[in-house]
Amino acid sequence: MKPILEFRGVSRSYESGSGTQTVLRDVNISIFAGEFSAITGPSGSGKSTFLNLCALLDEPTTGEIYFDDVPTSGLSEALLCNLRKNAVGMVFQQYCLLPYRTVLENVLFRFRYLDMDSAETRKLARNALAMVGLEGFEDRSTHQLSGGEMQRVGIARAIALKPRLLVADEPTGNLDSAAAAQVMRCLQQLGEQGDIAILLVTHDESLLKYTSRHLSFNDGLLTECE
Ligand SMILES: Nc1ncnc2c1ncn2[C@@H]1O[C@H](COP(=O)(O)OP(=O)(O)OP(=O)(O)O)[C@@H](O)[C@H]1O
Ligand SMILES: [Mg+2]
Repeated sequence: MKPILEFRGVSRSYESGSGTQTVLRDVNISIFAGEFSAITGPSGSGKSTFLNLCALLDEPTTGEIYFDDVPTSGLSEALLCNLRKNAVGMVFQQYCLLPYRTVLENVLFRFRYLDMDSAETRKLARNALAMVGLEGFEDRSTHQLSGGEMQRVGIARAIALKPRLLVADEPTGNLDSAAAAQVMRCLQQLGEQGDIAILLVTHDESLLKYTSRHLSFNDGLLTECE
């Protein structure tokens, strides 16, 4: 099986007044469909930097990132933009929902830049909501939802276009353990369908029981944990 995403010798450094700070060092990893990977590590170890590279929001300082075997450094900005929009879904700790809009409107927001028939987008949005267990919530306003429900709307929005890769930076960071468990089971079920790779950054090691792979960062170095 070919990886969706492959990092070969990827490093990322930032320049500042005090010199160069290397945040990721020689990262080599392949990410496959059907995997649900947890990414852990101390604060400042490079987890979000890695996730931003995976979502093609940032570029390596050295090395290459392959998306479906294509080296991304050679892609035009238009092609990269297309991949970000269609092939990658993102879930955020703060949910980032539109307040006082309905659940369905929030998921439909995912389609705002796309020239798609509105009956088709509604169908995709409803399907995504059903996949996260929110069938029947379509017309509820987001301010009437619990945190766990809000995050599942965030996941529905991220998967509505059937991305190949789903990245989530601490999606359960604001939730209590019961709501976090709901969100994790929802991600686990998506992963088990086999056509998406999920990357989840978390500080909560108790969530590792839901994931199928564990990657850990320490000072920019990636380790594959057993
Ligand atoms: N745009 C940037 N410019 C300069 N330095 C940055 C930038 N983004 C991140 N860094 C630095 O890179 C290091 C790694 O940051 P990163 O956000 O990847 O850590 P993290 O593992 O996600 O931490 P946390 O668990 O606190 O979210 C930090 O020292 C941070 O200050
Ligand atoms: Mg972070």
